[in-house]
Amino acid sequence: MATAWFRWGVALTLLAVSACGGGGDEADPVARGRAAYLANCVACHATNPKLAGPIGPEVAGSSRELIAAKVMRNTYPPGYAPKRATRAMAPLPHLEPKLEDLASYLGGLSPASIP
Ligand code: HEC
Repeated sequence: MATAWFRWGVALTLLAVSACGGGGDEADPVARGRAAYLANCVACHATNPKLAGPIGPEVAGSSRELIAAKVMRNTYPPGYAPKRATRAMAPLPHLEPKLEDLASYLGGLSPASIP
């Protein structure tokens, strides 16, 4: 019994430690990408990337190339058909170190599936 409680204690402590990463230091790239998304993208895109936001379209399922092109230069990869014809998104080139994390988070989501 005591061992079981001890294991739970260890598990909960680890959970608490990982949940408090906050500053984007989490070991999990998806968690870091989600934090970066919530910190930099939801002024325009929806908190849930599968939905259209107040200004920007849904971005779940975006490829690394697409995210890099939009975030670094506000362009699109060759041959990509944009969801919107506008060019309203401001590039955020200072986020280059976060591109891999953003791609892990957004790219790992299935695209919007609105019934
Ligand atoms: C200032 C508002 C704004 C911010 C902030 C913003 N976006 Fe956008 N985003 C847009 C708009 C508007 C579009 C639609 C195309 C356009 O007008 O540029 C777009 C389009 C995109 C697209 C292309 C969608 C498609 O398939 O055509 C991706 C990917 C994207 N944004 C990712 C991001 C990410 C990742 C961030 C945060 C790092 C972000 N955006 C921050 C406004 C914004």
